[in-house]
Amino acid sequence: MTNVREEVATIEKPLAGKVAIVTGASRGIGASIAKVLADKGAQIIATHKAESQTIKDVVADIEGKGGLIHPIPCDISVPEDAERLVKETIEKFGKVDILINNAGITKDRSFRKLTLQDWNDVIDVNLTGAFNTTKHVIEPMIAQNYGRIINISSIVGQAGAFGQTNYSASKAGLIGFTKSLALETASKGITVNAVCPGYIGTEMVAAMPDDVIEKIVSKVPIRRLGTPEEIAEAILYLISASFVTGQQLNVNGGLYM
Ligand code: CAA
Repeated sequence: MTNVREEVATIEKPLAGKVAIVTGASRGIGASIAKVLADKGAQIIATHKAESQTIKDVVADIEGKGGLIHPIPCDISVPEDAERLVKETIEKFGKVDILINNAGITKDRSFRKLTLQDWNDVIDVNLTGAFNTTKHVIEPMIAQNYGRIINISSIVGQAGAFGQTNYSASKAGLIGFTKSLALETASKGITVNAVCPGYIGTEMVAAMPDDVIEKIVSKVPIRRLGTPEEIAEAILYLISASFVTGQQLNVNGGLYM
């Protein structure tokens, strides 16, 4: 007979025993994903670029609720850093089940003013960073015949945005990366999907000029910014969805359909 206690534990903590790397977990959407996955029982490996109070707060929050989190400083745009991240994760926790490629930056400027440095900085973190981390998890995931890779793209990669040619190219690139990798790994127990957030209440959006945010929110059919938790909910869905791969899941309040 099924042990009822065990059954309840599985329902409450469906990710118990799973090891999840979340890049850029010190704030915003990444912090929220780390908290929600930890709450569902996953062992979180949280990357952060520099020591900061924000990563300490995320660790304290998760541990305070009995969750499992191990922070690792890592600049995902540096291939050796990404390799060390995965190596350390496997040494300490034995495997990687879930990779959330979330870390991202903006350097917004109209294209006429955009420098090659602005272009490279954003592509290196947002797009090449996902290559760097994924490169090292893919063989272990194939070997265990299980993996969930979720790339945080953006509405800006789908619809474009004034002043964001570099960011838009990086986020559109992640969608192509997602689809091709999904094709290559679909028969090996791995799903690869993208989440495309719209405008979410994070520091990144708060840094936009007030009039630009107001104009955008007035066009959102749901008439508000999204919350980081609403992105984390989409991530939970994609982790559980074993027959969904190569998709872009829009979480944007209806702004782009
Ligand atoms: N739409 C239309 N025209 C605009 C504009 C806009 N949003 N912003 C500026 N312009 C116009 C200016 O009026 C100006 O026109 P004139 O030459 O005729 O005077 C011209 O463009 C150049 O203006 P600036 O010199 O001010 O341009 P800039 O190179 O300094 O760039 C900007 C300004 C950085 C793009 C600024 O408008 C801005 O920060 N916009 C917001 C960018 C944005 O949407 N960021 C999203 C961040 S959130 C995020 O990215 C998360 C996610 O995934 C959704």
